[in-house]
Amino acid sequence: MKHEKPRVAVLPGDGIGPEVMAVAVRALEASGFQATYVEHDVGWSCWRETGTALPNATLQACRDADAILFGAITSKPEEEAQRELAPHLRGRASYRSPILQLRQKLHLSTNIRPCQGNGVDLVLFRENTEDLYAGFEASPVPELLAKTFPGLPVGPDAAVSLRVVTRAASRRIAEAAFAYAARNGRRRVTLLEKANVLRQTGGLMRSAFHGAGAGYPGIAQDEMNIDAACARLVSRPGEFDVVVASNLFGDIFSDIAAEVAGGLPWAASANVGEKHALFEPIHGSAPDIAGRGIANPCGAVRAAAMMARHLGQTGAAALLEGAVQQLAARPLANDMTTARWEREVLALLSPIPA
Ligand code: IPM
Ligand code: MG
Repeated sequence: MKHEKPRVAVLPGDGIGPEVMAVAVRALEASGFQATYVEHDVGWSCWRETGTALPNATLQACRDADAILFGAITSKPEEEAQRELAPHLRGRASYRSPILQLRQKLHLSTNIRPCQGNGVDLVLFRENTEDLYAGFEASPVPELLAKTFPGLPVGPDAAVSLRVVTRAASRRIAEAAFAYAARNGRRRVTLLEKANVLRQTGGLMRSAFHGAGAGYPGIAQDEMNIDAACARLVSRPGEFDVVVASNLFGDIFSDIAAEVAGGLPWAASANVGEKHALFEPIHGSAPDIAGRGIANPCGAVRAAAMMARHLGQTGAAALLEGAVQQLAARPLANDMTTARWEREVLALLSPIPA
């Protein structure tokens, strides 16, 4: 710990981010969680005014914090991003999602996404810095590349995004999954890949996965192709236990898992590295409902619970998890107001004595 009382950098972001973060912080306070909070700007308004969605002061505050609580951000395609940029900055900056920047700059290599409900009880370990998210993209495609890959379409009417996979990162995510399974009495770890087609990158993921698994003979380990796994998740959700996936496959699989388990608003994730950790709901900024006071803050409260657990405040974590769990089990209308959600959460954190 860097500070006597943990310091939490709160980054509410765009859309419903600020609405759900406010509830998460009040729930943390009601749970007895001890911390000091520093709030910082991130997201679309920063981009429009300054040409970066992640200001330096925010990045520095994240480096200095013991944990980061992140709301949600809006990302738009490059053309739109340029149109909305302050005129004097147009063409001089290009938009990159701040959450992706934070994951890479802070080396948050392990993305943990637990999903529970409706027969699902799985924990996804998503590699968080490589794969198609590595940021190596080009259009036009340079002629030079065709020297290595004869037949590759080049020029202005082609585009490439490189799928980058290293043994170190693949091994790290697999190790994290096996270690978690061993610590938590989980029986099986499954790799989701597509090694029959992506022979190099998928093959390297497989070999790193089996290398890590060799150290855990008591845990069953198997593989599935990502497409078959997505279909199976819908038809037989109970079959998954701990799963490991590369960045993009994990992104897609976790949305389906969250939806099957009860809906995106309920799911949270941890982005963990050696020095830093960031916690966020997995839903986006939902511009269609932003400002209407109807966002469900339960994913954000779950993210707060994961953070409390990470910081060793297990009593507060258990209270927060329990409150969301109880709400998830109730036949509540999904169109409640955020204020009502907050009242329900807070009531479960500090029950009125009988
Ligand atoms: C997620 C989100 C992000 C991702 C977006 C907002 C860049 O979908 O955390 O799953 O693609 O990783
Ligand atoms: Mg996603």
